[in-house]
Amino acid sequence: MSSMQDKVLMMEIRNIPLFKVNMPPETMDALRSTLYSGYITSGPKVIEFEQKLGDFICTRQLLCVSSCTHAIELALRAMDFGPGDEIISSPLTCIATNMPVMVFGARIRWADVLPDTGNIDPASIEPLITPRTKAIIYVHWAGNPANIDAINSIAKKHGLKVIEDAAHAFGAEYKGSKVGLHSDFVVFSFQAIKHITTGDGGLIVCKDAKDFERIKALRWFGLDRERFKGRDELRWTLDIQEYGYKFNMNDIDATLGLAQLPYIGGVLKTCRRNGRFYDRELADVPGVTVLRQEESANSAYWLYTLLVDRREDFVDFMKSKGIATNIVHTRNDTYSCFKDFKEDRPLPGLEEFAKRYISIPCGWWVVEDDAQYIVDAVREFFR
Ligand SMILES: Cc1ncc(COP(=O)(O)O)c(C=O)c1O
Repeated sequence: MSSMQDKVLMMEIRNIPLFKVNMPPETMDALRSTLYSGYITSGPKVIEFEQKLGDFICTRQLLCVSSCTHAIELALRAMDFGPGDEIISSPLTCIATNMPVMVFGARIRWADVLPDTGNIDPASIEPLITPRTKAIIYVHWAGNPANIDAINSIAKKHGLKVIEDAAHAFGAEYKGSKVGLHSDFVVFSFQAIKHITTGDGGLIVCKDAKDFERIKALRWFGLDRERFKGRDELRWTLDIQEYGYKFNMNDIDATLGLAQLPYIGGVLKTCRRNGRFYDRELADVPGVTVLRQEESANSAYWLYTLLVDRREDFVDFMKSKGIATNIVHTRNDTYSCFKDFKEDRPLPGLEEFAKRYISIPCGWWVVEDDAQYIVDAVREFFR
């Protein structure tokens, strides 16, 4: 077959997914060893995973948990969130950012988002603050850090707690340090398609040592397992001061995470290479708007979101080229489960963003030739 025929064939069978599970080949040996070690719940592997994650983010005040959703619930519990309290949140995120609020019978006030990033608009937060407001929660959309300083300074002025939902943003940086170090609580997800996966799993980083100690106990029935290390017979003899949850990570999940951590540098490098390539190559395409990054932010490019005209036709066209696209998350304020939080207040930034946003493949599986192919397809559609 001639090389031209090869090329035609390659184009015909191209199939570029939006997400792909990363599972290094050596995972199986590590997993086998944990599975037959005689210890599979939270134990030495979780401790080792936490140590290595701490080295990566540069903090010791972090805890592995069963999911990012549970990490948010734990953060809310640690601030004694409850009925009558209010939280200001971004509507443009995974439902997992907002659903934990429902557990506490509290109220969500929807902030607007910036139409050029999809991140929460700090200017829309302050007018929503009432004497009942207790916290602000927001996502770093696509892994692109929001204006963390602006949000923290509003929170400080009004005595509010902040939860950064960094489920998209593992490895992202803000002002030269890793996302994770800037707010009261920062939560990450290790769910199947994240930069690091443990199947399901999450991480919470606490700024305050008291929050850290409390959450360490809350994640496992109100008991800090480390206190009983090697003295398991004492575990149930001491008083449990407050009820907790079964939100711990187990050693099987931590083994998966440990097998992946050595690859995170390469994953981030490829995602950033692809993301920056799109930033450059798509900036001047009529009908396309590339998103802005905050000054001093270094996106993790978990997603590559762009704004496009004629979105439905664009999606069909990309599909015909074997390129997966998706909006990934729908604005939360339109779901019936959040109907009690509906207000007659315009969210113009969200309206503008929601009409045109779409994500294209940019992860570690997108090789340079694929990225060029994707750029060519976008250009072809808008020609
Ligand atoms: C922004 C955001 N927050 C939270 C979550 C929930 O993560 P988990 O599945 O680990 O609970 C996700 C999951 O994709 C997410 O995208």
